[in-house]
Amino acid sequence: MNHIILIGFMGCGKSSVGKRLAKAMDLPFVDMDDLIVERTGMQITEIFAKFGEPYFRQLETEALLQLAECGQRMVISAGGGMPVQPQNQSILKEMGTVLLLEATVDTLVERLQFDDTRPILQGGDLRQKIESLQQQRKEAYEKVCDRKIRTDGKNFTVIIEEIRKIVEKTAEII
Ligand code: S3P
Repeated sequence: MNHIILIGFMGCGKSSVGKRLAKAMDLPFVDMDDLIVERTGMQITEIFAKFGEPYFRQLETEALLQLAECGQRMVISAGGGMPVQPQNQSILKEMGTVLLLEATVDTLVERLQFDDTRPILQGGDLRQKIESLQQQRKEAYEKVCDRKIRTDGKNFTVIIEEIRKIVEKTAEII
């Protein structure tokens, strides 16, 4: 399938870019976290608190498999931990063009400092957590993505144009 899949660290802008990109390309937008919330009737924080991270990761893979079956082309925002799970990597790659959105640690700290919806970042020093998690995830992100897009200092219009060019080029190659 020829989906456009946005991956990257929490706070890098996957959902906000994804929504605008989908609108610009006249495609449906799916946020994988929202899909899980819809399917379970629970918020992500509640799932982590009641059932733990491994259960959430299981739900993520199930939701991904369900989307992979869908014939309609979409813009998909994948949760920040999704590409890290080995079982998701080949599925993501087969689903379409995978774009890694990147932002500096300063930007991420600024965007995430008052956030209480990401259980993985709660408690302790936020900057340290981001840095160490980013380090742990770097290899997986790079393995799964087709292209990287730096987002710092760019407005949505610029980012979306960049993505559209990449996606159009990919379509020509295919
Ligand atoms: C997570 C990222 C979150 C969400 C969950 C775990 C992660 O999604 O799936 O809190 O492990 O990076 P976003 O990247 O959309 O914030």
